[in-house]
Amino acid sequence: MSKASNIVWHESNVTKEERQKMKGHSSAVIWFTGLSGAGKSTVSVDLEKELHKLGVHTYRLDGDNVRHGLNNNLGFSAEDRAENIRRVGEVSKLMADAGLVTLSAFISPYREDRDNVRKMMNEQEFVEVYVKCDLGVCEDRDPKGLYKKARAGEIKGFTGIDDPYEEPNKPEITVETDKHSVEECVKQIVDYLKQNGYLG
Ligand code: PPS
Ligand code: ADP
Repeated sequence: MSKASNIVWHESNVTKEERQKMKGHSSAVIWFTGLSGAGKSTVSVDLEKELHKLGVHTYRLDGDNVRHGLNNNLGFSAEDRAENIRRVGEVSKLMADAGLVTLSAFISPYREDRDNVRKMMNEQEFVEVYVKCDLGVCEDRDPKGLYKKARAGEIKGFTGIDDPYEEPNKPEITVETDKHSVEECVKQIVDYLKQNGYLG
């Protein structure tokens, strides 16, 4: 809900459809959700490379990166995570309007926050990818040493340890990174995008 009044939408003279036509593919927001260490960054980085090779115009938004800039005033309370996801949802929507395929990789632990982002877009534009991985495997991987700190009580409210993660009920895609390789997970997503007409 906007705090400002007396603001009027101003249409552009180039439509989203015209931008998409020039690019030769649909817009989409590929939304990666999952525990820290599940593989959201790894899979989205490799997927972007693959899509780039196929001539798709992409952009990647990643929790760690966005929190250095746009969202550097937010922490990890439920309210701040909701605001983080809302802003990133709005940015993803702008990028979809620009005709891009955006890869957004955020823990986004709350179902309601993710569903609110889904509601911002056209139905077919939002592709939720559940990056599924057993908590024990994530903790063994511990790529940034954060689980160790969380277990030692040095980080409070760490997702999966002393903060919730709500699994998606009906994601478009589930990749199981504790069962399949990065390449297999990327192929699964590319195949979905091809089969569902996103790539041209
Ligand atoms: S969220 O929940 O969607 O708002 O989080 P996100 O913006 O994706 O940022 C998650 C990254 O922040 C680091 N980090 C934490 N994660 C979870 N809980 C707590 N308390 C926390 N503190 C710092 C961590 O590196 C997350 O990155 P990933 O890539 O998921 O490991
Ligand atoms: P997240 O972004 O979800 O926090 P990262 O991508 O930063 O996760 O870390 C995942 C770690 O797991 C990386 O060190 C990666 O090399 C490793 N890994 C092992 N197998 C896979 C897989 N199948 N998919 C993704 N990452 C994997």
